[in-house]
Amino acid sequence: MLTIAAFFFSQRGSGSGETLPPGTTGWPILGENVKFAWEGSEKYVTDRMKKYSSDVFQTSLMGEKMVIFCGPQGNKFLFTNANKLLTSWWPQSIKKALLFPEFYEDSLKEVTAVMSSFTHSILKPEALKQYIPVMDSLARQHIEQEWAPNKQVKVFPLSKKYTFDLACKLFMNVDDPAHIKRLADPFRLVTNGMFSVPIDLPTTAYNGAIKGGKMVRAELLKIIGHRRKELTKQSETEGGHQDLLSRMLLVKDEEGNICSDKVISNNIIGLLVASFETTSSAVTFVLKHLADFPHIYDQVYKEVMATAKTKGPNELLTWEDIEKMKYSWNVARESIRLTPPAQGAFRETLTDFTFASFKIPKGWKTFWNVYTTHKNPDYFPEPEKFDPSRFEGSGPKPYTFVPFGGGPGMCPGKEYARLEILVFMYNVVKRLKLERVNPNEKITYHSSPTPMEGLPVRIKLHENN
Ligand code: HEM
Repeated sequence: MLTIAAFFFSQRGSGSGETLPPGTTGWPILGENVKFAWEGSEKYVTDRMKKYSSDVFQTSLMGEKMVIFCGPQGNKFLFTNANKLLTSWWPQSIKKALLFPEFYEDSLKEVTAVMSSFTHSILKPEALKQYIPVMDSLARQHIEQEWAPNKQVKVFPLSKKYTFDLACKLFMNVDDPAHIKRLADPFRLVTNGMFSVPIDLPTTAYNGAIKGGKMVRAELLKIIGHRRKELTKQSETEGGHQDLLSRMLLVKDEEGNICSDKVISNNIIGLLVASFETTSSAVTFVLKHLADFPHIYDQVYKEVMATAKTKGPNELLTWEDIEKMKYSWNVARESIRLTPPAQGAFRETLTDFTFASFKIPKGWKTFWNVYTTHKNPDYFPEPEKFDPSRFEGSGPKPYTFVPFGGGPGMCPGKEYARLEILVFMYNVVKRLKLERVNPNEKITYHSSPTPMEGLPVRIKLHENN
């Protein structure tokens, strides 16, 4: 019966514009979830591109009929038709872990409507410039306390700690360690379980994510309520804390009403989730690659020291200093190409349309995936080779290097991530050199690539820095 069902559910189109893309929707109910999870998204998409089509194929994931768009053409189509043919979409199970129950049924667009353009504006380079000294002083303090006193450290947990501490400070001006812990502990439950199989039973990871989400939201409401009171006392407008929350409290919708505390909480939790694993993973793998390739480390060190020599001992980094880190950014981008922190993103189709001569029906979900281009030798010769020079000159072809997506739906935190990565790189490289304890450590994939042992490294401090 299962064989007949699999045959029945699989379709191969001839590309007449009336046929659906080739591919299989797998087993009823289960779809291809197990294969996707088992194989990992890189193998899953590259195998199917070879088997079905390098443009587009169909599958079923998370209980939804889904079309995977591939290659630069697929990426271009999804990025440039955002909001025209498609809208953003996340599985209901993830919304349940993150949002207040009254928002479960709303589309992602509705949930983020008021804040979306505001989020883009507060995360623009001009707005972020003022945060560079905060990033720098926190990174210095973090390295002196957590790295420098030790002979050996684990990079991944420390990157996560730095990323979360920084987000708490810059998003909400929370810097008391006990308060950060009250947010970090339940937040860990959310990130550990939100992408797991959505079975809500007492011992499951998904159940942990639901419980953790509830606790994070309760804590956020307390913080927001407290800040509103401060705002009414005028402290915010009189040059008080210029974190993201203080600005969110003043955002008004089209009718001129300020946003409710719950809407603000939804957006803060969205920012925390979107930034946490991605940036922690990015920082971790940049440092892994610096440890793996000493000649690349040496060039980054040279670039870092050229700036460091111009600064006084307590002088913090500025925008101009970061802009000089061109080679370091190429190294970071090459690391992100090889171990992309985010795998891709979903959309929902708003109407029927045709792509690569195949019909894409209204209501289906779509997915683009970094691996359809990042490891393709047509766009990145010798794709497994770590070579930052790929980003010199005009760099990769359009729509081939897409770690942050593209078009209007592109990650609004791209610049925040760039600054955080470069500031952290600067501080680590200036102060120490890394040597991997286990050069054969395996990588596993949660929402972002994760070193299985946490990336233990031996550290050697530079003298005089
Ligand atoms: C290296 C780090 C990061 C990577 C690789 C990354 C990647 C991505 C990707 C691929 C998307 C989906 C784009 C699409 O829908 O096509 C996304 C969305 C998003 N990211 Fe990031 N991101 C990173 C860091 C951040 C940071 C630091 C923030 C916030 C400070 C952030 C906030 C967001 C938000 C709010 C969205 C949803 C945007 C929307 O749906 O309108 N991200 N990110």
